[in-house]
Amino acid sequence: MSTAPVSPSGKPILFSGMQPSSDSLHLGNYVGALKQWVQMQEDYEAFFCVVNLHAITVPQDPEKLKASTRATAAQYIAAGIDPEKSTLFVQSQVSGHAELAWALNTITGFGEAGRMTQFKDKSQRFGADTTSVGLFTYPVLMAADILLYQAATVPVGEDQRQHVELTRDLATRFNSRFGDTFTVPVAQMPKGAAKIYDLQEPTAKMSKSADSPSGLLSLLDEPGVNKKKIMRAVTDDDGEIRFDREAKPGVSNLLTIYAELAGQSVESLESEYAGKGYGDLKKGLVEVVESVFGPIRTRTAELLADPAELDRILAGNADRANEAAQATLRTVYDRMGLISR
Ligand code: TYM
Repeated sequence: MSTAPVSPSGKPILFSGMQPSSDSLHLGNYVGALKQWVQMQEDYEAFFCVVNLHAITVPQDPEKLKASTRATAAQYIAAGIDPEKSTLFVQSQVSGHAELAWALNTITGFGEAGRMTQFKDKSQRFGADTTSVGLFTYPVLMAADILLYQAATVPVGEDQRQHVELTRDLATRFNSRFGDTFTVPVAQMPKGAAKIYDLQEPTAKMSKSADSPSGLLSLLDEPGVNKKKIMRAVTDDDGEIRFDREAKPGVSNLLTIYAELAGQSVESLESEYAGKGYGDLKKGLVEVVESVFGPIRTRTAELLADPAELDRILAGNADRANEAAQATLRTVYDRMGLISR
């Protein structure tokens, strides 16, 4: 199975997901992942998950979590994921994720899990007493997500590379211990845009957990809010619009974002803006951001206005996901010697 990752439809299988950690996704999520998902769903048998079991590895307000889970699913659809074509579902509605995670926990080394840099960063931030065991095994749950569907391809941003590496290691280990069971997946990252940086601190990743929200562009924020953040984005004082990640991180980040959202190359932007000022570049970017975010914001609001219909779509998709998940899980249990009913 490790060399033939195709679905019954003959298409290769893709899995990816996002945490519903706030109501709105941000620009990094969109450019690093969602935008490529929309393109890839045509050529893959795709599973797109709202990973709410991952979200509870840090404290959550239950009502807010329910709302942001629906809001995240709505944004997938609003951005162009078609729930008829792709399987778009909520992780907690398919019990196989938690079950396979448990099985994989038993073949994951303690030291191996402890080397995950995201865990190290987050646990340092929260402190030992408030860091949960769930946060420690978070990457194993992520491996379960991917392996459950025999996914060959995992489109993610750069920050998930290490987790996909762990997934590959666990798949290979399981296959050699218990017999060929899992497809060994590869991460796929958007060229040049796998890491979008904070607008105020352009050497740090754009992230919901940054100290200040002023460097983060949210998909659902009003245009005025994003405009202000873009106009105040950190640049430099040499005044030239040129891509140079090392010497000009702020300007390079703006160029990357602009290029991704406008579907243009960075080089064509450099010539378009040659001789102009940073203010012009920022004004252009404000328009491009709104031209992409505006329709997503409107469609998300429409979808969220009818939560019963959204829940119906998610439940139907969870049934489809569950069928695929159960097929893998039955094999895993059998190979590990766990008797089924
Ligand atoms: P999450 O929810 O933090 O992020 C969702 C996706 O957005 C990408 N991303 C970025 N890309 C570029 N620049 C940025 N600044 C940026 N910030 C976020 C992430 O790389 C990701 O692709 N552990 C995952 C969720 C997950 C998952 C999975 C992903 C759980 N199971 C299985 C793929 C497959 C996470 O926390 O992503």
